Amino acid sequence: ARSRLVLGIETSCDDTGAAVVNETGLILGESLHSQKEVHLQAGGVIPAVAQRLHRENIFRVVREAIDRSGVSPSELSAVATTVKPGLSLSLGIGLEFSLAFVKQHQKPFIPIHHMEAHALTVRMLEPVEFPFLVLLISGGHGLLALARDIDDFLLLGQSTDEAPGDILDKVARRLHLKNHPECSTMSGGQAIEHLAKQGNRRNFLLTTPMGQVFDCNFSFAGLRTQVSVAIDRKEIDEGVKSGELLSCVNDIAAGTQHTVASHIAKRTHRAILFCKARGLLPQHSPTLVVSGGVASNTYIRETLKIVTDATGLHLLCPPSKFCTDNGVMVAWNGIEKLRAGRGILSYTEEVRYEPK
Ligand code: KG4
Ligand code: ZN
Repeated sequence: ARSRLVLGIETSCDDTGAAVVNETGLILGESLHSQKEVHLQAGGVIPAVAQRLHRENIFRVVREAIDRSGVSPSELSAVATTVKPGLSLSLGIGLEFSLAFVKQHQKPFIPIHHMEAHALTVRMLEPVEFPFLVLLISGGHGLLALARDIDDFLLLGQSTDEAPGDILDKVARRLHLKNHPECSTMSGGQAIEHLAKQGNRRNFLLTTPMGQVFDCNFSFAGLRTQVSVAIDRKEIDEGVKSGELLSCVNDIAAGTQHTVASHIAKRTHRAILFCKARGLLPQHSPTLVVSGGVASNTYIRETLKIVTDATGLHLLCPPSKFCTDNGVMVAWNGIEKLRAGRGILSYTEEVRYEPK
């Protein structure tokens, strides 16, 4: 039989993405429009602005993905679209477009959960069997889960406030790293990783969050306050004016990166021990998959490697292209559901989703 094809559509936050993927994980065509620059100017994602930009770009992005794939809509086996979680205004554009598309072309519709799509993308690249542990660390997510099947996830922990990438971005902004000659084009997380290499974390000591909380949740807001208060004090000491760089930005970057890494590693360690104690991980080659924009941080990866080495887990970090929001991960999740024959709706079915 010919390899089936799924069109995947992603609009849950600030990326309009579409891709056509086949059952072997081959990406036939893809297109991505990022709104990052616009939101960076505004200092955050404004839902109404995100919605307008999704609306302006969705037709072109989907058309590009299909054109590049060289297939016609009639050859698609299904359309898969992120329906939750995310910004409801953004999700609405993808859903509205998809429902019209599946009606027009009379195709099955596969609703996709954004986090599940992130968690399963690794299986497009490597033969990872269930169950496996997943750590998602990005600008929008911080969570630990046990993936037991394509539609069966045990949530072990999540951020109770901000996502790890979010705090790195906020600390970078607080340090005015956009004004740093070496970092002007980098994301906050990249800038902190870059400067941390030249700094000494012992010159900027911080307390790792939730030391007395015995679960697998994350919390980064307190750490951000801790860093911010310390920066205020240093700025007064050095008498720097607004927008100027402190002399010790490298040490602050190193201390912040180390504490974020240490917090993530400790919660992951706890999750691994929890799963082991309950026999939730396979005997043969138990795996931790790490995904999300923050997973491209080498220091954080190395810290996690210490944890997985000590507990006998295999550490897998897919290339960053597959860790970020795009249509490919959604299309692949559609393929997984199509192969399992689960979660597939007919184009005539009523589809309503609460973006929770
Ligand atoms: O997955 P992603 O591209 O999208 C969102 O979740 O929005 O993640 C972006 C986040 C940003 O917060 C960025 O600062 C962070 O990932 N990031 C990094 C690095 N590269 C990107 N954080 C730490 N180290 C990096 N090298
Ligand atoms: Zn995401």
